Amino acid sequence: MEYITLSNSVKMPQLGYGVFQVTQEECERCVLDALKVGYRAIDTAQSYFNEAQVGAAIEKSGIERKDIFLTTKVWIEHYGYNAAKASILDSMKKLRTDYLDLCLLHQPYADYYGAWRALEELYEEGKIRAIGVSNFYPDRLVDICSFARIKPMVNQVEVHPFYQQTEAKKWMEKYGVQIEAWAPFGEGRGDMFQNSVLNEIGAKYGKSAAQVILRWHLQRGVVVIPKSTHIERMQENLNVFDFTLPEEDMASIAALDTKTSAFFSHDDPAMVEWFVNMVEERKKN
Ligand SMILES: NC(=O)c1ccc[n+]([C@@H]2O[C@H](COP(=O)([O-])OP(=O)(O)OC[C@H]3O[C@@H](n4cnc5c(N)ncnc54)[C@H](OP(=O)(O)O)[C@@H]3O)[C@@H](O)[C@H]2O)c1
Repeated sequence: MEYITLSNSVKMPQLGYGVFQVTQEECERCVLDALKVGYRAIDTAQSYFNEAQVGAAIEKSGIERKDIFLTTKVWIEHYGYNAAKASILDSMKKLRTDYLDLCLLHQPYADYYGAWRALEELYEEGKIRAIGVSNFYPDRLVDICSFARIKPMVNQVEVHPFYQQTEAKKWMEKYGVQIEAWAPFGEGRGDMFQNSVLNEIGAKYGKSAAQVILRWHLQRGVVVIPKSTHIERMQENLNVFDFTLPEEDMASIAALDTKTSAFFSHDDPAMVEWFVNMVEERKKN
């Protein structure tokens, strides 16, 4: 495993396991499988509704808590200082832990400054080892880096060969914020796993397109958290530390960038409304 050192000197595994869209029924088994094959970083979120299953798996694994890098994210309906603080303590209970390695604000909407103050306080109390944000495009990132008391240490954004975030990455570097890729495979959109450039590169090293993609991320200094519910793919995705992509392969992958999200833009007002409606709907339940 390779490690990244965050701006506050905390070491974070550069490759972890993400559990978005892993159902409550499957999640405990998946996290146990991931830990068994060697993952030591798990990325969940309040809005994935599987923190309890992640916590149960970590406990059952018998692996010492200090050897696992655990991340969760605060959802928008828990923003504002008081609600964020209470929700993080509740997440810790579900995750069966008395501290988090990393806690992120999931989206740049609503009262995220209030929520950030809760993160800052829990960080200073030692209950969270590193704090960060997610989906903060450069404008929001520069804003929070400039006006918050403590700068985020991580920004988790969509990054993959078809959406490389080259400009956003430069802004993160300028402010000392570590870039972390969500959907490192773009969830396979645009037939990414079948892409001929990625497969031809892989053939040279006896590696799959998925492994080439992860290797490319690692060499760019990006933290990755690929998701799979299949143990053989979990293993495949971890098996990326025994080869290196030379400059020419890195350049061929750089040329695949469409500079367009495979999902949606977080600064599209229609999408902001979509998030607002989701929060309203969840409040009713
Ligand atoms: N902060 C955010 O807003 C945000 C948003 C999205 C995701 N995330 C985080 O990022 C993590 C990863 O993103 P993601 O789950 O959206 O997408 P992803 O990791 O890019 O792709 C997952 C998809 O790829 C397939 N896959 C995985 N390994 C494969 C392999 N070696 N060969 C072929 N197919 C493979 C999986 O299928 P199977 O499962 O069937 O194997 C699944 O369909 C999430 O789990 C979550 O922790 C964060």
